[in-house]
Amino acid sequence: MTEVSTQPRVVIFDTTLRDGEQSPGATMSHSEKLEIAGLLDEMGVDVIEAGFPIASEGDFAAVAEIAKNAKNSVICGLSRANIGDIDRCWEAVKHARQPRIHTFIGTSPLHRAIPNLTMDEMADRIHQTVTHARNLTDNVQWSAMDATRTEHDYLCRVVEIAIKAGATTINIPDTVGYTYPRESADLIRMLLERVPGADEVVFATHCHNDLGMATANSLAAVEAGARQIECTMNGLGERAGNAALEEVVMALRVRNDILPFQTGIDTSRIMNLSRRVSQVSGFAVQFNKAIVGKNAFLHESGIHQDGVLKNVQTFEIMRPEDIGLYAKNIAMGKHSGRAALRAKMTELGFDLSGNQLNDVFVRFKALADRKKEVFDDDLVALMADHAANTDTDFLQLKRLRVICGTDGPQEAEMTLSIDGVDHATDATGDGPVDAAFNCVKHLFPHTASLQLYQVHAVTEGTDAQATVSVRLEEDGRIVTGQSADTDTIVASVKAYINALNRLVVRRAKTGPGDDVKTVHYHDKV
Ligand code: KIV
Ligand code: ZN
Repeated sequence: MTEVSTQPRVVIFDTTLRDGEQSPGATMSHSEKLEIAGLLDEMGVDVIEAGFPIASEGDFAAVAEIAKNAKNSVICGLSRANIGDIDRCWEAVKHARQPRIHTFIGTSPLHRAIPNLTMDEMADRIHQTVTHARNLTDNVQWSAMDATRTEHDYLCRVVEIAIKAGATTINIPDTVGYTYPRESADLIRMLLERVPGADEVVFATHCHNDLGMATANSLAAVEAGARQIECTMNGLGERAGNAALEEVVMALRVRNDILPFQTGIDTSRIMNLSRRVSQVSGFAVQFNKAIVGKNAFLHESGIHQDGVLKNVQTFEIMRPEDIGLYAKNIAMGKHSGRAALRAKMTELGFDLSGNQLNDVFVRFKALADRKKEVFDDDLVALMADHAANTDTDFLQLKRLRVICGTDGPQEAEMTLSIDGVDHATDATGDGPVDAAFNCVKHLFPHTASLQLYQVHAVTEGTDAQATVSVRLEEDGRIVTGQSADTDTIVASVKAYINALNRLVVRRAKTGPGDDVKTVHYHDKV
């Protein structure tokens, strides 16, 4: 008989697709958002904040489709404190089995000053908007943006108004990552003690990581009585990011002795989700990142290795398999067949349907021909490349030849398919990457500037694949492209082209100079 935990449940509210996607350059495509939402749902996330429906047609469509597909998670959309936003949000989330409207307003003196509302006017606005949301659904979350810098008396007053108007979850964000763990706990405790009706709602904590305290602040809030943690995979999010889902969940699990709470998360899915979010957002996970960093379970020094070999607990407080990280066996070779590839991919968290399997199999064979040993990480990179570069793309690399060496300038020849028609050119540059990028610029002139060019080796060895991320900016639109190949220059060009393809899609969605992300938190609608 399986033991049923009687510990209080902490609701895990994931906002990777909303706050996470707000990180400049982390924009995800429609299909990527659907895929990530599906993985979060399968992992056991209680609430998925799927987007900000009023922000753009694209955000609306993604939230609506995620809502239709969700199996277990509550699907939530964000809306500012006005009727238009809330109605639009409801139109998107209403398809879900369990929809939630999340509405917010900045309550601190600095935030009140922007829409120029008096304390009384803001209180009225909160009453009206939460009442309106509650007339649409019985699952309403209200957030006091910048709560940690709001006067305590006023915070108590507006929280009480939101509860009376029908909010079922009250979120207390540390919007600017300013609070300190003891303060975070005291604030929740103060609200629970002073606000009438506080015991009838769920208090949520939403911490940003500007001072590196987001996880500590979230856990302190839980100790004081908060029962929902808002977080993102890999800690993605505005500026220094949000509390990382993997950190709060694993802290609750590993330190259950002092944090006796349970979550519904299947932690063995963490690693795959982390990799996928990193790939689709283009935000590499730092090597020493807690839980999901490449080095998180590596023991380099002799003393550590010796200790771990004798008793793994000497230097490890959790097992790699707890987060779905398995020993790096040689995964596959060039003689491996389709069935073995499908089984391996399933183990890595990718469900390949018939056609997709054929496609990926062809790419796998090509990789196995060029690389002696194909590791799990190679297959993950191959999947990312498969998702990022398809044969229906507007721009596709057909041929590349580069001459480089000690005597510059370096030269490149390239054939690019643009909207189905092949075009060829050659160019020189300061180094092979520059020469190849100059070819792309000749063939597809544009004004986007290069903001980031990053190369990582997927595994060890000189035949390792390189994964490349390229971030471009054009008229406020920021896009990130990525690719993987055993040839670093080919991977670089494909990542550049992937970013340009994303830019083409963004231009079509928003028109010239009109960025989809420019809905401001204080706009009056
Ligand atoms: O950080 C914040 O305050 C937010 C709100 C919109 C909830 O993200
Ligand atoms: Zn936030």
